[in-house]
Amino acid sequence: MHFLRRTVLAAATLGLAGNALVAQESPTPKLAPYFPTPISVVEKMLTLAKVKPSDTVYDLGSGDGRIVLMAAEKFGAKAVGVEYDMPLVIQSRMAIKRKKLDSKASIIHGDMLLQDYSPASVVTVYLLPTSNDRMRPILEKQLKPGTRIVCHDFEFSGWTPAETVTIEDDGEGRSHTLFLYIRK
Ligand SMILES: C[S@@+](CC[C@H](N)C(=O)[O-])C[C@H]1O[C@@H](n2cnc3c(N)ncnc32)[C@H](O)[C@@H]1O
Repeated sequence: MHFLRRTVLAAATLGLAGNALVAQESPTPKLAPYFPTPISVVEKMLTLAKVKPSDTVYDLGSGDGRIVLMAAEKFGAKAVGVEYDMPLVIQSRMAIKRKKLDSKASIIHGDMLLQDYSPASVVTVYLLPTSNDRMRPILEKQLKPGTRIVCHDFEFSGWTPAETVTIEDDGEGRSHTLFLYIRK
């Protein structure tokens, strides 16, 4: 069977076709390449933000969905990922389905610059400094006071972190820095 047809059929079986076919087309080039946060660091990000079941977590550029999945599965939160790259969207939606997290976790296929983040109580970010600069005015405009923002490695210029945590070794010899901001 033709690859595209097989993919669409698989997506339909998973209830993904609607979303896939009406997904927004983004005029924005990729703001950051895909580079996943190690799982041990994902847990530290969500712990630093004190994520709890009443939270709604948004991950900006959700990649394979690992932050969304852990926020929903281990921390009991509602979690939403925004991802531009369709294969990663399909991969993360399949993982949500497989883990039966549909009631808590979802992935928007679209441009992170064009979303509404007003429902968020926690936002997770692993992007580049230039992408943070593009997102900063959007977050400043949309986020409620008290919303926690956790950044992996690249801070937001102009914001003062409430907490900064250094992870000396992620288990694979790499160090990471996390920045927690609380929206005023
Ligand atoms: C460094 S990865 C982080 C992935 C994930 N958040 C994590 O920490 O494991 C950045 C992600 O942002 C996505 N991305 C880049 N530009 C985007 C845009 N304009 N809208 C939505 N996603 C975008 C990339 O496809 C990539 O998956």
